[in-house]
Amino acid sequence: MIGRLNHVAIAVPDLEAAVATYRNTLGAKVSAPQDEPDHGVTVVFIELPNTKVELLYPLGDKSPIAAFLEKNPSGGIHHICYEVEDIIAARDQLKAGGARVLGNGEPKIGAHGNPVLFLHPKDFYGALVELEQAH
Ligand code: CO
Repeated sequence: MIGRLNHVAIAVPDLEAAVATYRNTLGAKVSAPQDEPDHGVTVVFIELPNTKVELLYPLGDKSPIAAFLEKNPSGGIHHICYEVEDIIAARDQLKAGGARVLGNGEPKIGAHGNPVLFLHPKDFYGALVELEQAH
């Protein structure tokens, strides 16, 4: 079902500092920050030859990563995103197998303009999993 690793997302407490670390210390190609009000985050994309890393910073009062940063004040890996061919078929298959889909179960449009869903971390060994229909 799952295909390529689309991205690993890291929640950061200081976006400017994290950008500087990736750009200057690690020598990565780093995008300008992009606000995602529907998801309550500001995102910076780091392009690697084989995948992406996304730096997430809280946006607005109800950011879903605010509580994560309270528990992990220096930041931490927040989720991993796998590509799927058909997000509705993937969702239905996962639900039939007992996996929990977060939210109302309907895909939202993610940071890349494609439909995404999140799966409960307790069903995937402590890792919050995002599925993205890549094409
Ligand atoms: Co993501």
